[in-house]
Amino acid sequence: MPQLSVIVPTFNELGNVVELRDRVAIALDGVDWEMIFVDDDSPDGTATTLREMAQADRRVRCIQRVGRRGLSSACIEGMLSSSAPVVAVIDADHQHDEQLLPRMFELIEGGDLDVVVGSRYAESGGIGSWDESRAAASRLATRLSRLVLKADLHDPMSGFFMIRHDAFVDCVKAGVSGVGFKILLDLFATSPTPLRYRELPYQFRNRLAGESKLDTNVAWEYVVMLLDKFMGGVVPIRFIAFSLVGGLGLVVHLLVLSVLFKGVGTSFLWAQTGATMVAMTSNYVLNNVLTYRDLRLRGWGFVRGWFSFVLACSVGALANVGIADYLFQQQDSFWVSSAIAGVLVGAVWNYAVTAVYTWKTPKSA
Ligand code: GDD
Ligand code: MN
Repeated sequence: MPQLSVIVPTFNELGNVVELRDRVAIALDGVDWEMIFVDDDSPDGTATTLREMAQADRRVRCIQRVGRRGLSSACIEGMLSSSAPVVAVIDADHQHDEQLLPRMFELIEGGDLDVVVGSRYAESGGIGSWDESRAAASRLATRLSRLVLKADLHDPMSGFFMIRHDAFVDCVKAGVSGVGFKILLDLFATSPTPLRYRELPYQFRNRLAGESKLDTNVAWEYVVMLLDKFMGGVVPIRFIAFSLVGGLGLVVHLLVLSVLFKGVGTSFLWAQTGATMVAMTSNYVLNNVLTYRDLRLRGWGFVRGWFSFVLACSVGALANVGIADYLFQQQDSFWVSSAIAGVLVGAVWNYAVTAVYTWKTPKSA
């Protein structure tokens, strides 16, 4: 059996995969390896090419996921499907230096390490030709990661690493998030025992073919993942996202209210009603795009979803006011905690009811 599985997440990487296999084969000459591609049903037909490749080369396998997206979750599923004692993750676009693989393997085989990370920020590493804004975003994200990281990694955002399979499975069992792009950070922040690691510097290269999949959603998912780790994984991930959207909704509400009440001069009752409707609608749209990206409602489903969302949240608002008022009656010096308790009950109600009736989440999601 292979001693090393190289996991490659792919989305529209048709022009890169064959060349990657060839380069990895040269780099890992003398090691018994296999390559597991995890493709999210790329529209460019990457999976077809991968299967053709697998027909001609036993070392190659392709997991095709349909109706799913996500870099981290793809890597996790690829690694879980491996029966090798050691697994590596590398991007398909040749930005990671595959020539590091044999040295990484040697270090892990040595037995004193759980993870070896390909690092752009360790001495003599580099980020290649990223523009200043992307470089600044990466530095900011790296700094934020310190909030949840239990190790002093230079490049916790790296997508290029090798890990012992048993250490990886321990992380999964301890509740890895699997949200977004940052699988390595997720593993380090989740591991039940501190991971023994080492960083190997390398120069981040330019993409060989195709385009980057990094978009604004990635920043959102990153914040959600950090919060999940920060709260120790006890709060459901969707509830975290739902609450963040709710926070934005409050800002929207106050903006619309002040425009209508102060700007236009509408009565307070109408201004408050208008602000409530706009905030509910923007919350609905944002949750549909961000929190329920995978179950996004479209067409008539979107309209129906809006009605059920507004209905659920109206009941939630009643519950909020009722609870807060009840608590306030008991002890009126605690007006702030009464209000917060009301908001929390309302938020949990809105979340629970819309999860079932608006987006119809399956039990496990
Ligand atoms: N299966 C799957 N599903 N693969 C995906 C998805 C997805 O939704 N999104 C991206 N990928 C694959 C791409 O096909 C590529 O092989 C790899 O994940 C990285 O995607 P890029 O779009 O090239 O990301 P990047 O270059 O902006 O960022 C990468 O490099 C950074 C530096 O190492 C990522 O690996 C980051 O996590 C990493 O920090
Ligand atoms: Mn890339």
